[in-house]
Amino acid sequence: MAKKMWGGRFSKKMKKEVLSFTSSIDVDKELAIYDCLGSMAHAKMLGKTKIIKPEEARTIAKGLNSILRSVKKGTFRIDKDFEDIHSNIQFALEKKVGRVANKLHAARSRNDQVVNDTRMYCKDKIDMLFKSAALLQKSILGAAKRYFGFIIPGYTHLEHAQPILFSHILLAYIEMLERDKARLCDTKKRTDLLVSGSGALSGTTLPIDRVYLKKLLGFKAISKNSIDAVSDRDFIVEFLSVLSIMSMHLSRISEDLILYGTKEFGFVEIDERYCTGSSLMPQKKNPDVLELIRGRASQIYSNLVSVAGMLKGLPLSYNRDMQLDKEPLFNSVEIVNEELKLLGGIFKSVKISENKVASVFKDESIFATDIAEYLVKKGISFRKAHDITGRLIKHSEKNKKSISQLSLKELKKFSKSFEKNIFAILNPTSSVKFKKSIGSTNPLFVKKEIKKWNKILRG
Ligand code: ARG
Repeated sequence: MAKKMWGGRFSKKMKKEVLSFTSSIDVDKELAIYDCLGSMAHAKMLGKTKIIKPEEARTIAKGLNSILRSVKKGTFRIDKDFEDIHSNIQFALEKKVGRVANKLHAARSRNDQVVNDTRMYCKDKIDMLFKSAALLQKSILGAAKRYFGFIIPGYTHLEHAQPILFSHILLAYIEMLERDKARLCDTKKRTDLLVSGSGALSGTTLPIDRVYLKKLLGFKAISKNSIDAVSDRDFIVEFLSVLSIMSMHLSRISEDLILYGTKEFGFVEIDERYCTGSSLMPQKKNPDVLELIRGRASQIYSNLVSVAGMLKGLPLSYNRDMQLDKEPLFNSVEIVNEELKLLGGIFKSVKISENKVASVFKDESIFATDIAEYLVKKGISFRKAHDITGRLIKHSEKNKKSISQLSLKELKKFSKSFEKNIFAILNPTSSVKFKKSIGSTNPLFVKKEIKKWNKILRG
């Protein structure tokens, strides 16, 4: 039976099922690197402050460094008899450097150790996700450049609304991801906090140097309340919220691609490598990756709810419930990062198909807003113009005649302001070209935006 970090006051052996119920090693082994780094800094600090002898600190740090290397190589052996990664590394260290290892735990508790490790993990993963999101933006931008000029119907209520540049939609995705990146940076500010040195909850009587620890571990700030330090998991809830919003975006982007890829819409073609077939229907090419990104958003939300729910009602300070924060955290980080990469590949390989679009624009009702604004330019109030155009559309539908098939004389029955040039606006190219407002789908504006993002994302 393995030794524990806390065996002294116990005379009975822990029941096997209690170890397996309370153990977190299967999950928190993910923190191994951060635990080694945190402990190395702690050992150095203990040596510097003479809480332990400098040579003892060096021996411990060396031992930890060799454990760190084995973790990185993937050769570190986890012993499931030890309940968590902290105990695992502690006892591996003892095996390596002998009893001097027992001096390492002075002035710390696993309560501050685990939060410190988790904060280091989050900082790294925030950076990783930021990079993955930027890479996805780049591949979306690539598609926006490749297919510049391709016009599709824009939708509201999933009904034809107005013509838009496909690139304008793609740039909308880039905007969404840019907000996600900003949220990642924002939550990183509150994550970047040294908690080590808070002890179990009240600090320590030993003369530790937290400023030195902060410097060694590269944290921006030091926690100012030891009770809050070991109890606070806000940074995890925040990170999971950011990931929830991000996965909501990825889900919506996926849904667009799923729709646009169907035979009914037929605007894009998803590369085969990102699709799967049917075991029964030989013709099928299904967008399963996109569907799973859409579906997994719900898993990411439930990870957030799971941690927020676990924390609600917990008394200060540390409680073992908090151990349950890691599985949802790691799970969300891993899934969202995988999704960002997969979507990047999908956008790199996506193709457009123009056939369907041409037939869609034969239904000229999509130019209704352009017609109404044409009349406004002739001095008619928008309400009136709206009404005139509405009646015109109704007439054209009833008589199964498109607006451009009507004569100017017929059009004048709806409004005397119609002139010959009305026919020139009834096409998608004019519709986007005549947009005037900043941020609109006018190709000139869209091109400018592409240039801007090109510059931003290159940096
Ligand atoms: N595995 C624990 C966690 O993740 C470490 C802290 C244990 N502390 C304790 N007092 N039992 O929260």
